[in-house]
Amino acid sequence: MSSNSQWGGRFAAGPSAIMQAINASIGFDRKMWRQDIRGSLAHAAMLAHVGIITTEDERAIREGLEAIAARIEAGEFPWDEALEDIHMNIEARLTEAIGEAGKRLHTGRSRNDQVALDVRLWVRDAIDGLAGQVEDVMRALVEQAEAQAATVMPGFTHLQPAQPTTFGHHMLAYVEMLSRDRGRLLDCRKRLNESPLGAAALCGTGFPIDRRMTAEALGFDGPMRNSLDAVASRDFAAEFLFACAMCATHLSRFAEEVVIWTSPYFGFVKLSDAFTTGSSIMPQKRNPDAAELVRGKTGRVMGALIGMLTVLKGLPMTYGKDMQEDKEGIFDAAETMTLCLAATAGMVRDMKPDGARLREAAGAGFSTATDLADWLVRELRMPFRDAHHVTGRLVARAEAKGSDLAGLTLAEMQAVEPRITEAIYGVLTVEASVASRACFGGTAPENVRHMAAEWRERLA
Ligand code: ARG
Repeated sequence: MSSNSQWGGRFAAGPSAIMQAINASIGFDRKMWRQDIRGSLAHAAMLAHVGIITTEDERAIREGLEAIAARIEAGEFPWDEALEDIHMNIEARLTEAIGEAGKRLHTGRSRNDQVALDVRLWVRDAIDGLAGQVEDVMRALVEQAEAQAATVMPGFTHLQPAQPTTFGHHMLAYVEMLSRDRGRLLDCRKRLNESPLGAAALCGTGFPIDRRMTAEALGFDGPMRNSLDAVASRDFAAEFLFACAMCATHLSRFAEEVVIWTSPYFGFVKLSDAFTTGSSIMPQKRNPDAAELVRGKTGRVMGALIGMLTVLKGLPMTYGKDMQEDKEGIFDAAETMTLCLAATAGMVRDMKPDGARLREAAGAGFSTATDLADWLVRELRMPFRDAHHVTGRLVARAEAKGSDLAGLTLAEMQAVEPRITEAIYGVLTVEASVASRACFGGTAPENVRHMAAEWRERLA
């Protein structure tokens, strides 16, 4: 086997087959071909600008890279594992096509700053796509919230009926979570937006390169200030993966609710044929597979985060080949998020809440007991702890009688607390309960309408 055409000067022979197999990343890092070419175009333009290469060489490089991009796009590029990675695959074909000039492209640059650049650009592009998708899910939730602002449903803690809330309020809770996820992605983008290009192998270069020029050409705020840090750091990737993992966790919680809500025992919402599947043996089945998969795929995103942190934790400065292991997790997490966000947006828009069923469930489980206790505090000036106790006794009575709280007669109530009047029945309906929770951030339909309108404007 002949030695490597890119770095084989001091090597008499090529690598063993197993060396090549463990070393090669072309099988996955080819996903970064656009970023790699973008970076090389900027680097070549800068080299010509400062006079390190001629403008003829720069033109040959540019046209050569554009031709390569067209070949890759057309699926006609001959990927070669012997050339290890995306950087050397492209450079070798460039030199094959344009000769000498191609060999000058790597002046003042190393694969170490090149790969750091490509990954940064790839993550930045991924963030731009994902942030837009998160917004789309938010928009879908806001649409449901506006349509269902006054649709009462049970609010749960411990998955036990707690207090009545509205379907709209529930939707808006997820809008808040997703807006923070979006914010985390954009924060990550802000912090990662510095260019590592020009750090070269690790110490910078003696060539009079202009790092500001390439940084600007590639849309960065400026060059990274320390060359060692530039090639050694992937905290931006870990941060991106955390933002993804947190968002996946929120999507998973929502998906879990869809699974519960579509179970016939709950029957809170219906999904159409578009977002459910049947069973190959049980003809009656309608399974919420999309929701289950959104829930299930969360694990791989979390895995990517842990994988990234683990790769970094024992690495001495600066670059180590271990870092080649950063990519597959990043790609898989981003692609998983793209799919899960699209599926969630689809489910949210598809979902039909069953208003009657939700209304019935909202009133079950003595869900207005807190309202009763609050009435005792407000009207009888009873200390809340005592009111809690009195209400508990009334719940026990109703339970024994097999009725809800409004099913107790005034006499039965007065047997527990003689000062209770007819007026108490006014607070025992679920509608009165939700309407009363009009404090800022509360569940009242008026609030929900207001907040949903605010979000709609912000997302327009
Ligand atoms: N394929 C490598 C990676 O993904 C590129 C950088 C290789 N650098 C080196 N000095 N071997 O990390």
